[in-house]
Amino acid sequence: MRRAIYPGSFDPVTNGHLDIIQRGCKLFDEIIIAVLINPEKTPFFSVEERCDILRAVVKEIDHGECVLTVESFAGLLVQYAAERNANAIVRGIRAISDYEYELQMALMNRRLGPGIETVFMMAHEAYSFISSRLIKEVFSLGGNITGLVPPSVEIRLQARLSRNKIKGAS
Ligand code: PNS
Repeated sequence: MRRAIYPGSFDPVTNGHLDIIQRGCKLFDEIIIAVLINPEKTPFFSVEERCDILRAVVKEIDHGECVLTVESFAGLLVQYAAERNANAIVRGIRAISDYEYELQMALMNRRLGPGIETVFMMAHEAYSFISSRLIKEVFSLGGNITGLVPPSVEIRLQARLSRNKIKGAS
């Protein structure tokens, strides 16, 4: 049984994330998509909302025989991975600029949990420039993000933005 954890903030999930999940499905029997609970960050969507969005979108993708679950976690990633009996941590790498930070994390995680391998995967080049941060910025400034996130995410972003505008106006 090859079980991997795919950790991240997923605020929100993008088509780049989904591409990594689908590639991971070819390597693992189960992938737990794990949303970090980080009290130090002020996210656009709450952890619960991000998990709900992820659960809805992963239902729609082709995942072959791979079992996909979505959970949230707090604390050390390697500890959480060990509790879930995972053998691997999956991380997506886009440009070389991601590499330094990812290498640091992978080596620290290997030191903390030598039994868990980090597996780096490259999303399709069409998604190599997408990040959740850019999606939020472009969308909130009225830019077109169609094709970069699942349609349901675009709808959720629109709803959140309209709510914030109404709040701001009242
Ligand atoms: O999507 P992100 O924000 O790049 O994901 C970062 C994440 C969740 C993988 C990283 O912050 C993490 O693993 N946090 C858990 C705390 C931890 O284990 N820190 C030490 C990492 S070496």
